[in-house]
Amino acid sequence: MNHILVAGGAGYIGSHTVRALVKSGYQVTVLDNLEYGHEWAIVDDSVRLVTEDMGDLPRMQKLFAEETFDAVINFAGYINVGESVNDPLKYYENNVGRAVKFLQAMQGAGVDKLVFSSTCATYGVIDQVPIDEAESQNPINPYGQSKLMYETILNDCETAWNLRSVCLRYFNACGASDDALIGEAHDPETHLIPLVLQAAMGQRPHITVYGSDYPTPDGTCIRDYIHVDDLAEAHVKAVARLIEGGSSLKCNVGTGNGFSVNEIIETTKAVTGLDIPIEYGERREGDPPELVANPALANTELNWQPTHSSLKQIISSAYQWAQKQS
Ligand SMILES: NC(=O)c1ccc[n+]([C@@H]2O[C@H](COP(=O)([O-])OP(=O)(O)OC[C@H]3O[C@@H](n4cnc5c(N)ncnc54)[C@H](O)[C@@H]3O)[C@@H](O)[C@H]2O)c1
Repeated sequence: MNHILVAGGAGYIGSHTVRALVKSGYQVTVLDNLEYGHEWAIVDDSVRLVTEDMGDLPRMQKLFAEETFDAVINFAGYINVGESVNDPLKYYENNVGRAVKFLQAMQGAGVDKLVFSSTCATYGVIDQVPIDEAESQNPINPYGQSKLMYETILNDCETAWNLRSVCLRYFNACGASDDALIGEAHDPETHLIPLVLQAAMGQRPHITVYGSDYPTPDGTCIRDYIHVDDLAEAHVKAVARLIEGGSSLKCNVGTGNGFSVNEIIETTKAVTGLDIPIEYGERREGDPPELVANPALANTELNWQPTHSSLKQIISSAYQWAQKQS
């Protein structure tokens, strides 16, 4: 049985991926410092949780010496774009600095396969959609920059010590597991669908829509929403590719379909039957009108297709999860 180390596996996307890996027959160990992750998010009894920081080199060396890992997935990192603008060093220190220590431990132990959580934020402001991987990467905030730096570091490690990696550039992760056992539990929450659901459920006074004069059909921003279980499946396929000897890859993970903020709100109203108070605000700096993936490379190279990402499925699962939380 192949053994996978999942850093950040107690977080939102990591915990869904851990379940998908176990279901696919992998032995899984989770490494998470629990700064933002949750012990309850690891639901399979077979999974061992190591509560350490990926930047603690001596402890990482010990972990890699004690256990044999066939591949690693790294979800661990800070994720709040706005915070990264105000506190860039916090982001560079964790998403690059501590993540480099983690790579040093991997190198020392001879572990040479890594799947990495990258992001569409590495592209920056793109005028043309859908976005494909050949597009230039010019991130406009330290969060996106930190992810691009790590992609570059992985290229250099491949040259120097044959590390093979798959960088998955996620678009907007959303939704929750079908059985509502796990779901999105960020604090603070900055993602649209959980915030719209909070407004619908009376947990916040309204949802603020930032900008209604964009050059889109209804004037609000368009994004590509990908169900977290579809993302999880992309990781399972990426791990299998590396274990089977496949080459490194950088690819988008999105559906190829865009939905506007107003469409998200309208679908949430239809799914929940609840009214949603809306407040219209100014555009936010650096928010492009439209970000939609061209997922063709993931389709062909990973044989991956989204199967859970209709808007109704996404919002229904997120609502089921939100109700359980309230
Ligand atoms: N959520 C999205 O829409 C989205 C989009 C693009 C990319 N990503 C990337 O995907 C990854 C996972 O995102 P998420 O939404 O699940 O975030 P999350 O905050 O829920 O999960 C990240 C996990 O990493 C852990 N962690 C952070 N730093 C650590 C460290 N130094 N050592 C050990 N553990 C550490 C946290 O405790 C947390 O459990 C992140 O790297 C993020 O940048 C997310």
